[in-house]
Amino acid sequence: MSIYKLLLLPGDGIGPEISAEAEKVLALLNEAGVARFEVERGLVGGAAYDAHKQAISEADMTRALEADAVLLAAVGGPKWDGVPYDLRPESGLLRLRKDLGLFANLRPAICYAALADASSLKRDIVDGLDIMIVRELTGGVYFGEPKEITDLGNGQKRAVDTQVYETYEIERIGRVAFEMARKRGNKVTSSEKSNVMKSGYLWREVITALHKREYADVKLEHMLADALAMQLVRWPKQFDVVVTDNLFGDMLSDEAAMLTGSLGMLPSASLGAADEKGKRHAMYEPCHGSAPDIAGKGIANPIAMIGSLGMALRYSFDLPKAADAIDAAIANVLAKGLRTADIKGDAPSTVSTKEMGDAIVAELKKTLS
Ligand code: NAD
Ligand code: IPM
Ligand code: MN
Repeated sequence: MSIYKLLLLPGDGIGPEISAEAEKVLALLNEAGVARFEVERGLVGGAAYDAHKQAISEADMTRALEADAVLLAAVGGPKWDGVPYDLRPESGLLRLRKDLGLFANLRPAICYAALADASSLKRDIVDGLDIMIVRELTGGVYFGEPKEITDLGNGQKRAVDTQVYETYEIERIGRVAFEMARKRGNKVTSSEKSNVMKSGYLWREVITALHKREYADVKLEHMLADALAMQLVRWPKQFDVVVTDNLFGDMLSDEAAMLTGSLGMLPSASLGAADEKGKRHAMYEPCHGSAPDIAGKGIANPIAMIGSLGMALRYSFDLPKAADAIDAAIANVLAKGLRTADIKGDAPSTVSTKEMGDAIVAELKKTLS
């Protein structure tokens, strides 16, 4: 049986609560003989800062580089508002993405049939929705230099962030999007602000050339990012794969999450380039944050976290059947009417994080045994 090393980084806020539910799923996968997952735990974000005065320690960075995959829950929270900028919890997450070379972030927004009435939009707008947002994750304004605040000495300060993209960065994320589209609805919508940004202009030029050269069989459309934000709530089912930069991808995926009923539903996979042996670094994490407003109450939705583990089975461990079984277990539990409090709708009562996790494990057990 294959043995896989997973580094689990629960992080902050609701992170430890939702991680506990993913660990139950991992225990079941081990028990059922799907594979052998050896789980190590580490610290990231505020939890790491409290322990080491660093948002991720060098030892945990090394373990992340050595692991077959990293599973991260969430980082950040008001407790760390006052820490020096370069040590803030989010910097641990950004370092993991950068140092592991995780340039491709897949954020699937799927509206489960049982949740078509839970979206803030009308049922027919979201029912059957299945969009894959492909977000560039190691470039753009998140990492461009200069990035600084200078004191101008006259009571004024000047803050600079720099959006930079080079051809190879746009090409490689474009390739991920086109390859993904071929396995789905065969359509890519590329989004930028080429009307005001040089980087957006280059983005459109590179995607257009790549399409013409290698992916002419896939339907390609370009849409300015502001228009795409509008179309996402007007008629989201027009989209199949959306490819966009780091910042637009961050914002558009939160928006897309609400089409599915809750931000607590959206998993993600962050993937690096494969080496000559076909191995690549990967990290799996919910799209949502540490939800400080509900942390410690036991009411967070664990579905994005469990779904992220499902994506690890699909994209790192070549276990598509087990990944399908996790998705089906989630769908069945929702079909039975179980809802955590974040899922809008008219459910007569809601369940806790633990009850939702237990119900998913019980469903999954039926398929695996
Ligand atoms: P957030 O995603 O943490 O929360 C936004 C809203 O969604 C809150 O009302 C929260 O209660 C709710 N929510 C989010 N996930 C939920 C879940 N699983 N179940 C139920 N409700 C859920 O965003 P925020 O409040 O803007 O940010 C809080 C902190 O999280 C910040 O420090 C931010 O930087 C960080 N953050 C981290 C990540 C990450 O670790 N990947 C992602 C986004 C934000
Ligand atoms: C996300 C988060 C992160 C981002 C933050 C916490 C750095 O919002 O994963 O969506 O902006 O990428
Ligand atoms: Mn985000």
